[in-house]
Amino acid sequence: MQILVTGGCGFIGSHTSVELLNKGYDIVIIDNLSNSKKEVIESIKTITKKDFKFYEGDVKDTELLKKIFTENKIDAVIHFAGFKAVGESVQNPLMYYRNNIDSTLSLLEIMKEVKCKKIVFSSSATVYGNPQSLPIKETFPLSAANPYGNSKLIIENILKDLYVSDNEWSIAILRYFNPIGAHESGIIGENPNDIPNNLLPYIVKIASGELKELNIFGNDYNTKDGTGVRDYIHVVDLSLGHIQAIKKIINETGCDAYNLGTGHGYSVLDIVNTFEKVNNVKIPYKIVDRRPGDIAACYADPSYAFEKLNWKATKTIEDMCKDSYNFIKNKNK
Ligand code: NAD
Ligand code: UFG
Repeated sequence: MQILVTGGCGFIGSHTSVELLNKGYDIVIIDNLSNSKKEVIESIKTITKKDFKFYEGDVKDTELLKKIFTENKIDAVIHFAGFKAVGESVQNPLMYYRNNIDSTLSLLEIMKEVKCKKIVFSSSATVYGNPQSLPIKETFPLSAANPYGNSKLIIENILKDLYVSDNEWSIAILRYFNPIGAHESGIIGENPNDIPNNLLPYIVKIASGELKELNIFGNDYNTKDGTGVRDYIHVVDLSLGHIQAIKKIINETGCDAYNLGTGHGYSVLDIVNTFEKVNNVKIPYKIVDRRPGDIAACYADPSYAFEKLNWKATKTIEDMCKDSYNFIKNKNK
């Protein structure tokens, strides 16, 4: 069974590639390295001791896609490639719509042409907007608060329309909550070049001395300690969710969406305290104004993924904090 992994050099794509190879799948990766480094390919090979083909290029490039589908017998696709920074999407919406939607359309057109009709798509909990209640179920109303979220919503709708037009398609839409952590080897992980927007990469850079102090965006939310609550999920658990989704789409046609989260909400202060404790480091912080667009709390009801995909997260918040830091320590050695 051969899986095409778009965006396979990125944070989630690289971890999923490792799990696919470990489970005996063959893979082909396409990535234009717009937010990743080529060395990740070697890292995946080092961890798994397996070989695979890598095409450096853009998913919008239909000629390249045709070449990939001609040169390889692809059974299914996992589509990670896309831009993901919310703030940047507000500054440059056209770039986000062009990259995220155009690449998906090109990919789906070629898949249709070659009759490879099985795809797993990376969506996000952002499609729930500000949820009416918690935990969040897949049946909740969907909305988007920014161009990034809207690009995910538009793609979800494209996939649903595609299935309505042709019931031979097999589509799993995975709505990730907050992926953090890293592979236990410390060889792959999340390492943004710029100043990180997300909580864990920011904390990790404080622990490693690259940044000084965490700004906590508000402590007056209606949560247990006033700081924002999120459903953090270990990237390896998340990757294993993709394996289960692949098994599902290989066996059955359909189009369905699944929450990939743990079902537990942790506050910013929970994360800071846990990170300090398990890594024996100090994370200085100050409370600043709320970040525009943030919601108070967000966590999944993951029971549908358990019921339909036989998947649930098993790693703890301690594992996530330990593995995130371990990757950077290993990298800076
Ligand atoms: P990432 O930026 O680390 O990985 C994305 C990869 O896609 C990168 O390697 C990048 O170079 C590549 N890429 C981007 N556009 C491309 C294009 N047009 N052609 C070829 N390659 C391209 O991001 P990630 O955290 O691994 O996220 C993967 C997917 O999951 C994205 O679609 C993202 O929107 C989604 N997602 C991420 C999160 C999160 O918090 N990390 C949460 C929800 C959803
Ligand atoms: N936070 C801080 N300080 C920081 C960074 C974050 O206090 O420097 C807080 C935020 O206010 C929030 C929590 O930490 O309460 C988590 O923030 P992140 O930026 O790590 O994550 P978000 O939940 O805001 O957003 C992430 C992704 C989005 C995705 C969303 C839902 O960045 O792309 O999860 O999946 F849409």
